[in-house]
Amino acid sequence: MSNIGSYEERIKDFSWKLAEEELEYKDGDVINIGWYCSDRNCIKGKGEKMALIWEGLGGVEKKYTFNDVRLASNTIGHHLRGLGIKNEDRVCLFMDKIPELYLSFLGVLKIGAIAQPLFSAFGDESLHVRLENAQTKAIITQRKHVSKVRRILEQMPYLEHIIIVDHDGKKPLKERETVFNLEEAEKIDEFEIFPTKAESPSLLHYTSGTTGQPKGVKHVHYSIISQYLTAKWVLDLQDDDIYWCTADPGWVTGTSYGIIGPWSQGITQCVLDTGFSAESWYKFIEKNKVSMWYSAPTAIRSLMKAGDDLIKQHDLSSLRHIASVGEPLNAEAVIWSEKVYGMPFYDTYWQTETGSMMLTNYPGMKIKPGSMGKPFPGIIAAVLDEKTFEPITEPNKPGLIGFKPGWPSMMRTYWGNEETYKKKFVNGWYLPGDKSTIDKDGYFWFVGRDDDVINTGGHLVSPFEVESALLEHEAVAESAVVAKPDEVNMEVVKAFVTLNPGFVADDDLELKIMNFIRKKLSPLAMPQEIEYMEKLPKTRSGKIMRRMLRAKEWGEEIGDTSTLDDE
Ligand code: PRX
Repeated sequence: MSNIGSYEERIKDFSWKLAEEELEYKDGDVINIGWYCSDRNCIKGKGEKMALIWEGLGGVEKKYTFNDVRLASNTIGHHLRGLGIKNEDRVCLFMDKIPELYLSFLGVLKIGAIAQPLFSAFGDESLHVRLENAQTKAIITQRKHVSKVRRILEQMPYLEHIIIVDHDGKKPLKERETVFNLEEAEKIDEFEIFPTKAESPSLLHYTSGTTGQPKGVKHVHYSIISQYLTAKWVLDLQDDDIYWCTADPGWVTGTSYGIIGPWSQGITQCVLDTGFSAESWYKFIEKNKVSMWYSAPTAIRSLMKAGDDLIKQHDLSSLRHIASVGEPLNAEAVIWSEKVYGMPFYDTYWQTETGSMMLTNYPGMKIKPGSMGKPFPGIIAAVLDEKTFEPITEPNKPGLIGFKPGWPSMMRTYWGNEETYKKKFVNGWYLPGDKSTIDKDGYFWFVGRDDDVINTGGHLVSPFEVESALLEHEAVAESAVVAKPDEVNMEVVKAFVTLNPGFVADDDLELKIMNFIRKKLSPLAMPQEIEYMEKLPKTRSGKIMRRMLRAKEWGEEIGDTSTLDDE
């Protein structure tokens, strides 16, 4: 029997009180995600249960029980407090998917500070804009990433502490750097957790928009109410599950469902901290007897490409439920997974701002391959007319997705950017910026984004950020960045540029420009291709018409060009 039982029954008289009761929380109580994910499991008799099975390069393995997680997060919290870090200070987590990342996340929350996880693959500039925006007080990182912090240190007077978790003492430390070695630190058993309340800030995740700098999405401790129940009902996590969420905690999936969802339920999870390869993934599932697996369409399409023979060479019989998030999951991938794994990938739709799943497929509910499913109980969702912002009642007619605000894990603001936050609400609806249809049975079908943001392999890339980086190169006069189709990543980044006089449009220059912007952008945002143009298509008012360039890449109709300046 699945945790959700009947979806139809659950939506009838749904209330978030149910999750509050299961987590023994009452309005006005202290609520701390760090405590819920560690101490509470020990109190409930799961102290000796395995919490984290971690594997790194070369098959190195580390294991932590819930009691180990409790002690480690206390120890990290104690160390941070000792450095003078207080509640609501921002602490950046800039590490690979090593155990310290997961344990520091809880340690930061336990002292009431705000965790700011960032992909360790970010280059100096990507790191800098995010630390600058949050006025981050401390960063926890690894030796291999510290040089990026050093290069931008002068510009960050607010950053007081650079904490290195794996320093071997060989090379001297630089300004503001200290060493914290978890394994050698004295374990802190008794620890006073900061009494955070429902609305106390917990987390800042950065996401890209069409214009301006990346936005810091602010979440609060009360978000656990949503994350707990969605993990229970959609991922269907059960006590003896071995769960694997493939996402990096630099991305919201890696925190909401790579830490908070499973651990608030006391579930064992595993983490693989090596790059992607179909073979190593199947080996990992086989070795750890993974039973619930949460991944993303780009990875799934890569697995499809790797072929079915590889699957036959591994024992994947432990799998009982699989799900996906981050981009449109094409019907072929769902049908394929049914054939090769004996079960479909359950698609889930949500975003950094919503903090938890919004539209999803549920165990026991009929799956329509290619559909995102139905709203989670308690979520009021609609497809809105683009002019009136009123719900469209006619089936299969595309419009803007809208959610009625009020679920526990909704973002509370964009850090230091209340104005942009307010613009996300129209006519009483929160607009996630996506378009969809709803069929006659109430299933949602993704149509596309409502803006120019590019979703490459599940990562949102702002064309503006890439264009700005390109414009900083002396040869580039103008730039326009759009999505281009790709078999595996669905979309990749393509740049069009015009050159300043005196520069020759050749491969050598393309390489130079690529190397130049690589230092500024995250690897995920790098263009696959740069195309030189004599001039870019523009409106008469001088706005670059990305729409035309995009249509050309996708072999689509160019549409209305009446505003095009084609003198
Ligand atoms: O456009 C939608 C797409 O990813 C966006 C959210 O990206 P991000 O904030 O990085 O969070 C992703 C992980 C929760 C959405 O606005 N998206 C996400 N899931 C789906 C999707 N598009 C289609 N189908 C999905 N299942």
